[in-house]
Amino acid sequence: MSTPHIDAEPGALADTVLLPGDPLRARHIARNLLDAAVEVTARRNMLGYTGSYRGRRVSVMGSGMGIPSCAIYATELVRVYGVRRIIRVGTCGGVGDVALGDVLLAPSASTDSHFNRLAFGGMDLAACADFALLRGAVETAARLGIAARVAPVFSTDSFYAGMPGLVELLRRHRISGVEMEAAGLYGLALREGAQALAILAVSDHLEHDTHLPAAEREHGLDRMTELALECACAIPVGRFTPCFSGGFEWPSEPDATRRKRAMRRRRPGTRRSPRARRARSRLARGRGREPSRRAAWAIALAFSRRSLR
Ligand code: HPA
Repeated sequence: MSTPHIDAEPGALADTVLLPGDPLRARHIARNLLDAAVEVTARRNMLGYTGSYRGRRVSVMGSGMGIPSCAIYATELVRVYGVRRIIRVGTCGGVGDVALGDVLLAPSASTDSHFNRLAFGGMDLAACADFALLRGAVETAARLGIAARVAPVFSTDSFYAGMPGLVELLRRHRISGVEMEAAGLYGLALREGAQALAILAVSDHLEHDTHLPAAEREHGLDRMTELALECACAIPVGRFTPCFSGGFEWPSEPDATRRKRAMRRRRPGTRRSPRARRARSRLARGRGREPSRRAAWAIALAFSRRSLR
């Protein structure tokens, strides 16, 4: 089996694919960060590899530059190879108060491209990341001590001939990064029911006209890629969750903490409070308390506002 653009065998790609723009970056990731990586596709030199990271099977493949190229590969990966999760890893130009080397986790991607409009009856689609993946990436970055910021980005079709005043407009809309693929990837992930997230390192600052030196750029990209790979391991593959909803699964960590607290041994000579007794029996029956809707919303809001610097 092959597609017009991917010549991998059936089953040769993992359910999770890291998607850098540059195929040589895909090769670098395969050689330096994956175990036992094998090349699975090289049509048009768009290299793709499958290996493992901490024992989890994962693939990495170049997407090329721009939404049309990225969308071709992502569509074929999902439709033909059964890929469930795509994590774009790339660079972006910074806008506003981001600094060179910052890592952005993009909850949304605005765009000047018509790609999503073509599929959405000419209307504006709110192109957004998968919520579970985004939330998991926030938690994973915090665990690894990587300063990552949840920040909306803009995907442009034009690297050189951007609209005059664009950067000012982006800043006014609290958009922190400019790249060329995320909006298309998010749109097609919504349509195909796959999970997608863009993790981007700020390589240039569009207002300060500053650029990350080559060595720091390499190091920053590797660190960001490690974050993406850790996410692939730590976050279970799931159904697409474009927004926070009633189907929200409470993260296991607070659950475990709550369970531990409730099951803690009583100090001799003290009594358990009625509330503790109730919690204990509920947990013993395997029924942790769900967060109230209000508490859950507060947590979601806190996530969206939090900048993990
Ligand atoms: N524009 C578009 N894409 C980019 C940029 C930029 O300034 N920097 C890195 N990718």
